[in-house]
Amino acid sequence: MEVIARTVIIPLVFASLVTGLIQSLGTTWGLFRHYWVLAKLLLTIFTATVLMLQMDGIAYIAARAAETAFSSTDLLDLRRSLVVHAAGGLIVLLVTTTLSVLKPRGLTRYGWRKMQRQ
Ligand code: HEM
Repeated sequence: MEVIARTVIIPLVFASLVTGLIQSLGTTWGLFRHYWVLAKLLLTIFTATVLMLQMDGIAYIAARAAETAFSSTDLLDLRRSLVVHAAGGLIVLLVTTTLSVLKPRGLTRYGWRKMQRQ
């Protein structure tokens, strides 16, 4: 669990942030012009922060679960918290993907000013 989090999930979260920044800044979408792009940026930063805060708990449960004495009733609160956070992460991914595909209208104040100048 810890190995997957460190070698797959964390790199992918930061990769989505970096590729998102490249797609925003490298195209006419811009980073602060459309609410949907801004929402994705904030959601992804929030997700990355929560994931980093969860890492200690993930590492702890992973180490404890590897012990033979670990029972199905141990650390229930911490394990529930991991499930809730993982489910929340999945919902955020669904929201960001839906926003990207639908690209709902809505320019920020900055986007309006930029458009009028052009
Ligand atoms: C895990 C998080 C993310 C997911 C799942 C995701 C998903 C997607 C998908 C599926 C598309 C393609 C939509 C289409 O045209 O069919 C897309 C495009 C785009 N994404 Fe993301 N994205 C994420 C993070 C970000 C972030 C953090 C940003 C901004 C900093 C961003 C900015 C953009 C932009 C500007 C496009 C449009 C590119 C274009 O059509 O020229 N994304 N994203």
